[in-house]
Amino acid sequence: MATDVIIPLDFSSAQEVYDFLALFPAQERPYVKIGMELFYSEGPEIVRQIKARGHKLFLDLKLHDIPNTVKKAMAALSRLDVDICNLHTAGAGEMMKAALEGLTRPDGTRPLLIGVTQLTSTSETQLHEELLIPAGMEETVLHYARGAKAAGLDGVVCSPLEAGQVKKTCGAGFLTVTPGVRFADGEAGDQARVATPERARKLGSDYIVCGRPITAAADPLAAYRRAVREFLG
Ligand code: C5P
Repeated sequence: MATDVIIPLDFSSAQEVYDFLALFPAQERPYVKIGMELFYSEGPEIVRQIKARGHKLFLDLKLHDIPNTVKKAMAALSRLDVDICNLHTAGAGEMMKAALEGLTRPDGTRPLLIGVTQLTSTSETQLHEELLIPAGMEETVLHYARGAKAAGLDGVVCSPLEAGQVKKTCGAGFLTVTPGVRFADGEAGDQARVATPERARKLGSDYIVCGRPITAAADPLAAYRRAVREFLG
């Protein structure tokens, strides 16, 4: 199964992205993630440009709408030739299946599709009091992951600390893409539940999303290489 370090391009302009990517030699094209900030600022052209430079790309737009709308939106993302895209599993099974249909190209290929279960910013109190979900956080996350698997999704986004449980529940082949990665000697910042790249791998992460430890490092290329070394061993 493929496994890699993904760098989130959490910048607000294309220029900042290109300045950052210019730090990498031509033969070293990291897997990158584009989220809402960059996509909504720069539009689909930024995705085309980065794909044209030879990067693999996770488009993190977390779709959540009625099945027909998600299906059509996913068809548009599939035409952008992204490698991974995602949705909120809270949209339920019919929406997830429609998303897969929309993503599938005429030749039968499609980007990987992964699900967001509960956002890591949602607390257990919010789960109960605002969302009116009586189950605990772990039970809810695993239930949503099972729903994603049943609908045919390829995996979920989760904390490295949840990756083992997700694999146990949904099978070893079900992908876990995990943010919340920090070097042992680094700052956790606003991430509450973190793991080092090496520990993330041992816990069952297939892809780690490692942002500020790389993008905010004095030497981002060295930090990226360190993450790859620690993660892939
Ligand atoms: O800088 P840092 O390593 O914290 O970046 C993590 C990336 O993963 C950010 O792009 C953030 O939006 C994303 N993410 C996350 N937690 C989630 C889902 C996505 O941190 N549950």
